[in-house]
Amino acid sequence: MVKIIVLVAFGTLLSGVATAQNGLYSEKCARCHAADGSGHTTAATKMTVPDLRSKQVKQMSDDDLYAATAQGKGHKSYPHAFLHTGLTEQQIRDLVRYIRTLSTNQN
Ligand code: HEC
Repeated sequence: MVKIIVLVAFGTLLSGVATAQNGLYSEKCARCHAADGSGHTTAATKMTVPDLRSKQVKQMSDDDLYAATAQGKGHKSYPHAFLHTGLTEQQIRDLVRYIRTLSTNQN
């Protein structure tokens, strides 16, 4: 009985985290990257927005994705600097994990 309650509580916690990441992504990233990560947005007509589910992004390490999002490492057209514009390190790490889930959904 206790086991069941613990499992339910844990499940609720996990889905809460996923929703929070999704919310942050929708708020801060989807404008350019699209909700599904495809990069098919109006913003993409003015700059080259990569598909976050692409092989190129999949091959990047978590630290590379973190550096790209936090500091715009390696970016030419739109240097991201989310670490300096309101997001915490933890939030960016969570976003990187969320981007990984976009990748797996495609396959
Ligand atoms: C104003 C539009 C815009 C917004 C908002 C935006 N991006 Fe991007 N993103 C881009 C563009 C353009 C590129 C390609 C950058 C380049 O190569 O210069 C990119 C590239 C990336 C990449 C690929 C990294 C790489 O180095 O290839 C990641 C990961 C990424 N963005 C994550 C995010 C996350 C996470 C957010 C939200 C916190 C976000 N982006 C918000 C436009 C945007």
